[in-house]
Amino acid sequence: MTDVNFERVAELVGLGLERREARWLVEEFAVPGDAGLSVGLRRAAQRRLEGEPLQYVIGHWPFRSLDLDVDERVLVPRPETEELVDVALGELLASGSLSPLVLDLGCGSGAIGLAVLEELRRRAVDATLVAVDVSPDALAVARANARKHELGAVSFVESSWFDQLDPAMRGVVDLIVANPPYVGQSEWADLDPVLAYEPRGALVSPDEDGVAGFSDLARIVRGANEWLRPGGSLVLEHGHAHRPALVSLASERGYVDVRGFDDLGGHPRILVARRRA
Ligand SMILES: C[S@@+](CC[C@H](N)C(=O)[O-])C[C@H]1O[C@@H](n2cnc3c(N)ncnc32)[C@H](O)[C@@H]1O
Repeated sequence: MTDVNFERVAELVGLGLERREARWLVEEFAVPGDAGLSVGLRRAAQRRLEGEPLQYVIGHWPFRSLDLDVDERVLVPRPETEELVDVALGELLASGSLSPLVLDLGCGSGAIGLAVLEELRRRAVDATLVAVDVSPDALAVARANARKHELGAVSFVESSWFDQLDPAMRGVVDLIVANPPYVGQSEWADLDPVLAYEPRGALVSPDEDGVAGFSDLARIVRGANEWLRPGGSLVLEHGHAHRPALVSLASERGYVDVRGFDDLGGHPRILVARRRA
C-alpha cells in the first residue's frame, strides 16, 4: 500500500471505520492520483458506516477459490459454508464417479455448487450442476458468477426446492447440497442488525415439529431421497440446534450412513446422509 493510500485509510478511520475495513475499501475504491477521498471511496465508506455489509459495499467476496459477485439479492457466503464444500467434495470423490450430477438447492450467489464444480474441474472431474433457487434475483447473480468463472456445465432452475425439477433427474443425482434458510422467525429479531440487509427469505424458515427454523431443512430431507441415485449423498448445512431432529428424520426416511460434522467453531453444522445403495 502506498503512502497516499495510508493517508486514505487514516481518513476513513477518522470517519469511524475499522482499520482493516478501511484498508479493504481503499484497495477497492481509491483512484490512483486522486488527492483526498474520491467520490466512490467516500460513498462506499458512507454505505459501510450506515451498516451495510462490507461484502455488498465491495460487491464481490472470496469463497473457496472463487471471487463471487454479491449484492443485496443474495446471502453473503459464509466461512462455515466453505467447510460444507469440503465435506461435499469428500463425498463425491469417495463415490469415484467421473461425471457426477450435482444439485445445489437454494444456490443464492452460486457459492456451493460453483465451488464444487470448479474444484472438480481442477481434478479433471467433469461434473454437471443444476442450481436451484426460488428467487429469480438470486439466480441472476448465480448465473453471472458462473459466467465470470467460465463454468459452463450449469443449468439454473427457478423452483421451490424440488417442485420444478426435470423428472428425468429422479434417482440419478450423485450429490445434493443445500444451505437452506434455517433461522426461526422468533430468532430473527435477536440477530445482528447487519443481517437485515440480506434477503429475509434466504435466512428465515418456519418452525416445524416444535423446532425453530426447521421447515425447509425437513422438506429437503423428505424430498432428496427420491432424486438421489442409490448410494448418492445429501449434504446439508443447518443451525446449532437442528442436528437431533435432522438425524432422526433422515433415519426415519431410510437414509443410511447418517453423520454430523461440527464447524470450526465447534458447533453442529453439517448433516450427511446417503440414499441406500
Ligand atoms: C441461506 S441462503 C444460501 C445461499 C447459498 N447457497 C450460500 O450458501 O451462500 C438460502 C437460499 O435458499 C433460497 N430459498 C429459500 N427458500 C427456497 C425455496 N423454497 N426453494 C428454493 N430456494 C429457496 C434463498 O433464496 C437463498 O438463496
